[in-house]
Amino acid sequence: MKKCLLCGSSVEPFLSFGPMPRANGFLRLEEFEREYFFPLEAAFCPGCAMVQITEQPEPERMFNASYPFFTGSSRRMALHFEEFAKEAARHLPPSSNPLVVEIGSNDGTMLACFAGAGMRHLGVEPSLNAAQAARDRGLKTVSEFFTLDLARRIVQDEGRADTIVAANVMCHIRDLHSALDGVRLLLKPRGLFWFEDPYVGDVLEKTAYDQIYDEHAYLFSVSSISRLLKRHGLEVVDVQPMPTHGGSNRFTAAHRGALPVSRTVAAFLEREKRLELHHRETYDRFRKRCEESRDRLTALLKDLRRAGKRVVGYGATSKSTTVINYCGITTDLMEFICDTTPLKQGTFSPGAHIPVRSHEQFLSPYPDYALLFAWNHRDEIMEKEGGFREKGGRWILYVPTVGLSN
Ligand code: TYD
Repeated sequence: MKKCLLCGSSVEPFLSFGPMPRANGFLRLEEFEREYFFPLEAAFCPGCAMVQITEQPEPERMFNASYPFFTGSSRRMALHFEEFAKEAARHLPPSSNPLVVEIGSNDGTMLACFAGAGMRHLGVEPSLNAAQAARDRGLKTVSEFFTLDLARRIVQDEGRADTIVAANVMCHIRDLHSALDGVRLLLKPRGLFWFEDPYVGDVLEKTAYDQIYDEHAYLFSVSSISRLLKRHGLEVVDVQPMPTHGGSNRFTAAHRGALPVSRTVAAFLEREKRLELHHRETYDRFRKRCEESRDRLTALLKDLRRAGKRVVGYGATSKSTTVINYCGITTDLMEFICDTTPLKQGTFSPGAHIPVRSHEQFLSPYPDYALLFAWNHRDEIMEKEGGFREKGGRWILYVPTVGLSN
């Protein structure tokens, strides 16, 4: 029996994807032979209600000098982080010279907003290339994983933080015990800890199984994260749903008992009870929906191939790695995937080895169909790709259901 990484209870696996490559393991031809695979399996813990994957590659395999994800690559996400930073700054506890620490600061997109307002700041980013991009724009950044030990050193060198922020990072950290002990140590007595991560409630509701991949060690619910934070002397004081990443929650946390708790938290907990997020059967039903979604998508792509249509993927997202390999999408079914990230262009998708090309290749000439892997940026992409539709191109969507859209 596999044990919960957080509470030690026996977990209940509910969805096995088989051998999977790293979601961001875009690779070159000469690397095909050494490609790394691990068994991807999602499980539910009846002890603490945390949804988790039962095995995760070593963190250094995922977040290293060639991590291909840069926050600044989406204009809307950059605006979202600007808004997030402004909200955190507005709620800064009174302090003469506040310090803001960002865990997983990537290329500094959000940290730059604090720095721009003249605040003391420190980014923590283990991926060397992203950390360097942040330093190049003058942002103070340490290239390490956030642990209790690092928190101790930050306190020694910089003092305690008034605000700690983390966007799409906490759910990546397998050893959350060390990270949360670090937050507790680093955060001032009346400081705020803000973090935003994909919400398991949205994943279930939208059958967004593609949120399950190596980097996502956990999918948080309000109840599972509240319980965990309490074990570390912290408390969720507010939750706000966010549209990012197809449905996320922005949590505000503080030292336990330090601040009043918003009524929203209790409302979320009630809703999660109604949704039966703490019942194993809920996850079994989810698995059935995933299997149906997979079968429909595969059938659609095969029909299009038989009809001689050109199909490409749009957005070489981390999520696409799960979809492509789970649905068995091969180069027969998909010509290439276009992506605006220079580091991904010229590589091949993990596992299925579908070529990743530039956005220009999408335009000349347009394909007949485009499978929208970057569905979380749907509005932004639809707005900018009006020309594709005008030329008769059609989008293939798979979240929340498989279908075509004009
Ligand atoms: P992201 O939203 O972070 O998804 P994930 O967390 O699953 O990786 O990544 C979006 C990807 O899509 C990224 O590689 C950039 C690419 N992209 C485009 O190619 N064109 C676009 O217009 C947008 C918004 C993103």
